[in-house]
This record gives sequence, structure tokens and C-alpha cells, in this order.
Amino acid sequence: MGRTVRVKSFELAARDINQVDVKLLHALSTGVGWPHRPKDWDFLRRAGHGIVAVDGIGRVFGSAMWFPQGREFATIGLVITSPRTQAQGTGRWLMEQVFERCGDRNLALNSTDAAYHLYLSLGFTKEATAFQWQGEVVATNPALPVLDGELRPSSAEDLEEIAALDERAIGINRHRLLALLAENASICTLRRRGEIVGYSMNREFGRGRVIGPIVASNDRDAIHLTAVHLKALTGQFARVDTREQTGLFADFLQQSRLGMNDTVATMSKGKRFLNREDDEPWVYGLAGHALS
Ligand SMILES: CC(C)(COP(=O)(O)OP(=O)(O)OC[C@H]1O[C@@H](n2cnc3c(N)ncnc32)[C@H](O)[C@@H]1OP(=O)(O)O)[C@@H](O)C(=O)NCCC(=O)NCCS
Repeated sequence: MGRTVRVKSFELAARDINQVDVKLLHALSTGVGWPHRPKDWDFLRRAGHGIVAVDGIGRVFGSAMWFPQGREFATIGLVITSPRTQAQGTGRWLMEQVFERCGDRNLALNSTDAAYHLYLSLGFTKEATAFQWQGEVVATNPALPVLDGELRPSSAEDLEEIAALDERAIGINRHRLLALLAENASICTLRRRGEIVGYSMNREFGRGRVIGPIVASNDRDAIHLTAVHLKALTGQFARVDTREQTGLFADFLQQSRLGMNDTVATMSKGKRFLNREDDEPWVYGLAGHALS
């Protein structure tokens, strides 16, 4: 019979996420099968705040981050506990500290299946499903609708106008986040009569590139704002996260031969997060699960 030993349980302490080596964060996310690279963690630490759960010798067993946008709202993400310590209360303990730090902000997150009941029990309500499309981009893209307007590569100079459009689409001022994303993104805008009516970004993340955010006023515009990046990424790994389940944009993603990898539930606590209005711009592609 194999010999066994029962080791003493250990205590975890909360630390600021900036106090730990990025390699430990990378090991934590890899341990739950997530694609984040050290660079992605570095970016997320610049974009938001976080805590980690560390043991007495500095090993990281959990994380949780929050990303304030404007004064009244924050998204939550990177909620992870290492498999060895799961189902022992660490996830809930981390979330309680996030709540303390977020005060009375309205909150939104994208929940995996594993975390869904935890978030429900913490007062979050499901608003939508987000679909994660990803794969190697093939050369033959689906037929495109007629383009109404002018697609243009864009630069940081357009950021003010992009942020204003984005705010109409998501109801939150994401100017600071968009400026950070734009530092390393290829950005495309769609203009009609000189005005920006849609934009999309494509940037490095995880296994390849993420196309997002994608903000557009209708499905046809969103298709063009996505196709322009897909075309440039032929042969590379790309990912698009969207809440579109039906309609031309959803059909386009299906036809683009990216695979549907996973779904997450968009949940909120406080004010309702997703408020789509007819003829107003809308978020067709997420910046990321943690950033919405
Ligand atoms: C989701 C996750 C963070 C939860 O962390 P955790 O440390 O296991 O959470 P807790 O121990 O505080 O458990 C929270 C609740 O979920 C329940 N729970 C945890 N793991 C469970 C499991 N495998 N099956 C069923 N219920 C489970 C617990 O019973 C607990 O409920 P209770 O407080 O009413 O008893 C963790 O499972 C994880 O890191 N998963 C992989 C990454 C992930 O999906 N993160 C979420 C991103 S949105």
C-alpha cells in the first residue's frame, strides 16, 4: 500500500497584485487553462487593480481584479483560485474584498460556468451570454454586405471621437481603458459623412490576436469592421468575443470558420449593464472577458 501523509493546512493572506512576480500570476492562470501570457497580466495590472492570495512563502493561490470605468462602474475579472485550493471559500473571500474596494459602484463581469453559482449567491444577475469564437483565420472569408461608408486605419488622434462613440454604445466612459488598449492595437474606423460611426481594434492577446472592442451601429458595419482585421490575420490565431447570438453578425462569425470555443454569462450587480437602443451604436465585440 502506498504511504500517505496529511500536511497541515496553510493560511492565505491578501496582497496587492502589483507586489507579486508576474510569473506567479501566469502560473495561476495557466493552472486553470487560461491563455493569458505574462504580457497580458502586465497589461491588466496597468488597466486595473487586484489582489492575490499568497501563502507564507509567497506562493500565489488566488487572484481577483477590478477595473473601474468612470466614477460609478467597474468590471471584475481574473477571479481565479488554484485547483488545489478550490471549493474552500477562497473565491468568495477574494470577491468580498473586491466588493469592499469597489464601494457602491455598479458591477459587471463575465462568468464562467465554474463561477456562476458563486456570483449568483453574491447578488449578480445574468443579463446575456457571450460567445467566444476563435481559431486560425482562413484565407476565404464569407461574402460581405455592401459597405456604407469609408473604412480607415486609425491612430490615437481619433481616440476622443472613438471614446465618445464607445460611451454611447456601452453607457460608460472608457476613455482611459481605450487609450491603454490603443497603445498596441491596430485600429480601424468606419466613417459616414466624415463622422466615426464604428470602430474596431485588433491586438495581441493569449494565443494570438483579439479583435475587440468592436463597436458599430448595425450588423453590416460590424461585419466590415471585423472582416478588415480577419483579412490581415490570415493564417494567424484570432479570437472574437460577442454577445450576438442571431443575426447577420453572428452568421458572419459562423461562416468565417472560427470555432465557437466557450460561452460565459454576462452578469451585473446594481444598475443593469447592457442597455441596447434602436439605431444607437452597440458593442459587437468585447475588449476581453475582464474588460467587457
Ligand atoms: C470559480 C472559482 C474562482 C471559485 O473559487 P473557489 O475558491 O472554489 O470558491 P469558493 O470555495 O469560495 O466557493 C464558492 C462557492 O462555489 C461553490 N463551489 C466551488 N467549487 C465548486 C465546484 N467545483 N462544484 C460546485 N460548487 C462549487 C462552493 O460550494 C461555494 O458555495 P458556498 O459558499 O455556498 O459553499 C474557481 O473555481 C476557479 O478559479 N475556477 C477556474 C477559473 C474561473 O472559472 N474563474 C472564474 C472567472 S469568471
